[in-house]
Amino acid sequence: MHTTILVTGATGTVGREVVIQLSIIDGVRVRAGVHSIIKGENLKRLPDVEVCEMNFKDRDSLHAAFTHVDKVFLITPFSDDQVEMAKTLVDEAKKANVKHIVKLSVIGADTEPGLQLGRWHREVEQYIIDSGIAYTFLRPSSFMQNYSNFDASTIQKEGRFYHSTGNGKVSCIDVRDIAAAGVEALIGTGHEGKAYELTGPEALTNQEVAGIISEVTGRQVEFVDVPEDAAKSTMLQHHMPEWMVNAMLELERSYKENQFSETTDTVQQLTGRPPHSFRQFAEDYKECFV
Ligand SMILES: NC(=O)c1ccc[n+]([C@@H]2O[C@H](COP(=O)([O-])OP(=O)(O)OC[C@H]3O[C@@H](n4cnc5c(N)ncnc54)[C@H](OP(=O)(O)O)[C@@H]3O)[C@@H](O)[C@H]2O)c1
Repeated sequence: MHTTILVTGATGTVGREVVIQLSIIDGVRVRAGVHSIIKGENLKRLPDVEVCEMNFKDRDSLHAAFTHVDKVFLITPFSDDQVEMAKTLVDEAKKANVKHIVKLSVIGADTEPGLQLGRWHREVEQYIIDSGIAYTFLRPSSFMQNYSNFDASTIQKEGRFYHSTGNGKVSCIDVRDIAAAGVEALIGTGHEGKAYELTGPEALTNQEVAGIISEVTGRQVEFVDVPEDAAKSTMLQHHMPEWMVNAMLELERSYKENQFSETTDTVQQLTGRPPHSFRQFAEDYKECFV
């Protein structure tokens, strides 16, 4: 008997890692739901992975993607219509009689009033609860891979990266650990009805992050603390939509205030091993920063 698991957003930062880790599990068939087929090409080479085209705004593509699916790892992108997209996915899961949804949420999604990002995830979490489908919520802190995805280009060009986080500490997590926790939630037992807060092993300031990247790469990297007003105008000048600028700045303010500096031992509990340290992440992603 095989279990078919659909991973949405399968070419994204977390989705790709979930597909890779699920592909080596016996008895699991992975359906990688990809938006642009070209980005999903290399997932086809993994064992027991089928790639299927999926647009969250196109019901026909969703119907096909959900056919004969037992479980779903649900990821939606950071966009202002993410709640609508996620609700559509939950509706399709219900129609397809899906047995379990593991949803990628965010740390603090249960905090009132919380941040905008958390509120969006909370609304979707509640929608899943109301759907009656068994669920597990993964609530990770900020991804270590944000540094390789979003800060690497200025680190490479200028030896600097820019945020408005002051001396605030954040307990960033490696997405490989989020994926490992998600795999356990999908194939292990007893995870239904649970919400897991996932963090890395330590909280670091951006000055400390810069120090670690400098040591690992052997070149001096500096963190520049940007006043919020200046950060806002720069992001707007780069045509970032206003809702996104506001959400990003609210998040950075919360980091500055140490709202996300606590660590949990949930990764260890779920996977049986400690989460990656930032130094380990920096070693493994060193090429991105040079
Ligand atoms: N970054 C963080 O620090 C952090 C921390 C905690 C929680 N989160 C949460 O993590 C989630 C994002 O995960 P991620 O970073 O892995 O995402 P990501 O790298 O931005 O990838 C998003 C994925 O969604 C796909 N996608 C976009 N629009 C789509 C559509 N209309 N139909 C189908 N697929 C579509 C993208 O495919 P294409 O590229 O082909 O469009 C891509 O595969 C968000 O919910 C965010 O709130 C992020």
